[in-house]
Amino acid sequence: MTEEKKNGVMDKKVSRRNMLKMTGIGAAGIAIGASGMGGILSTFGKDFVAEDDDSTAKNKVNFYGKNQPGITTPAQSNIYFASLTVLVKTKEELQKLFKDWTPAAVKLMNGEKIAAQTNDMVPPPDTGEAKGMDAQNLTLTFGVGPSLFKKFDFGDKKPAELKNLPHFPKDQIEENYSHGDICIQACADDAQVAFHAIRNLVRIASGRVTMKWSQAGFNAVPMTDGKPGTPRNLFAFKDGTENPRGQADADKVVFAQSSETKSWLVGGSYLIARRIQMHLETWDRTALDEQEATFGRHRDSGAPIGKTGEFDAMEIDRKDEKGELVVPDTSHVFLAKSVKSRLLRRSFSYASGVIDSTGAHDAGLLFISFQKDPKQFIEIQNSLGRMDKMNEYITHRGSAVFACFPGVKKGSFIGEALFSTL
Ligand code: HEM
Repeated sequence: MTEEKKNGVMDKKVSRRNMLKMTGIGAAGIAIGASGMGGILSTFGKDFVAEDDDSTAKNKVNFYGKNQPGITTPAQSNIYFASLTVLVKTKEELQKLFKDWTPAAVKLMNGEKIAAQTNDMVPPPDTGEAKGMDAQNLTLTFGVGPSLFKKFDFGDKKPAELKNLPHFPKDQIEENYSHGDICIQACADDAQVAFHAIRNLVRIASGRVTMKWSQAGFNAVPMTDGKPGTPRNLFAFKDGTENPRGQADADKVVFAQSSETKSWLVGGSYLIARRIQMHLETWDRTALDEQEATFGRHRDSGAPIGKTGEFDAMEIDRKDEKGELVVPDTSHVFLAKSVKSRLLRRSFSYASGVIDSTGAHDAGLLFISFQKDPKQFIEIQNSLGRMDKMNEYITHRGSAVFACFPGVKKGSFIGEALFSTL
């Protein structure tokens, strides 16, 4: 007996397949219109096909789970981050968008094409540039921004904490790297696989969303005995050493628990993205001693100043024989650690050409952090904003906050609980 028959939904599926066949369209829920009709059209039917995580796929991260992938997943070497503006007008259409994205996301994370070509007279359903690649540890993480709740009335489902971040000292935030109704974070060990995922998800949603801004990023991830180490940022320091580790710690810091948030967001997390330009030319004229004092860590080992191991305890109140602080009180780590809040950092470097007015690299950090409440970030950034030595070398140019849904169960779709009373 087929899976479809067991579930008692065969008739619906067969008729849907027949319809797809009759119209010459792929079977994965992605409808391709004749090119004269404008290429990719909306998907058919009210429902969606629940795809399976393929446990035999190589270099594969599971899509389904308690929390979304791409949060506590070890950082891959590439990101393509997209912030989208929603064009549809009703919550039903918005819900349909997430239904359409769900099976496509599973297939992409399996390293599969989103749909097979069944008719050569129409544009290929999958754009094809990831053909021949395995899953490359692709993760897709979906979130919704404060502006979405201005466009759609979700009543008291809107969490009070989901709002644009306040202005911090020295911020030079530009709208074209900021905000958005929906975000999709695609991370993979191959840049083109990450790009392909966003390209196809946006294509499926053609006419229903537009891209507001996007940013590609990269990391050098050193491997030791097959295990990924801490990546270095463009200042050459290991970035991500002091992060929550393990599910229990992540539940404390990263994933909202029931009683801490709206029910649709339990198991979800807030993503904060900051596009931070790093003034590499100034940094490269700075002595190593000064660079290390800026962070409070040694550059090569990543160890706290005065220690040797990357994971040695960072004791910010340690004093030398003269009674002076070993880790300077203006250093990045001292200030980040001197407040109670913690967060999970999962940042990527970027290089996006040249700044016209100065001829400098337009390069820096696509800082991404996950926390159960944006106030964790705000507390740390306020501490840094006032006197962080690193401020001489950076400018924050983009800012966005998104509530990332909890993980998806097979048969359900991304963000289902947000729409549950429709
Ligand atoms: C270009 C900007 C930034 C750079 C280059 C940078 C770099 C670093 C480095 C090298 C470390 C030490 C190693 C580690 O624990 O990962 C660190 C730690 C840390 N950073 Fe940043 N960072 C940046 C921005 C931020 C921002 C915007 C925040 C949050 C508001 C932040 C929060 C933290 C925290 C919480 C720690 C760990 C402190 C600890 O408990 O030891 N960083 N960062």
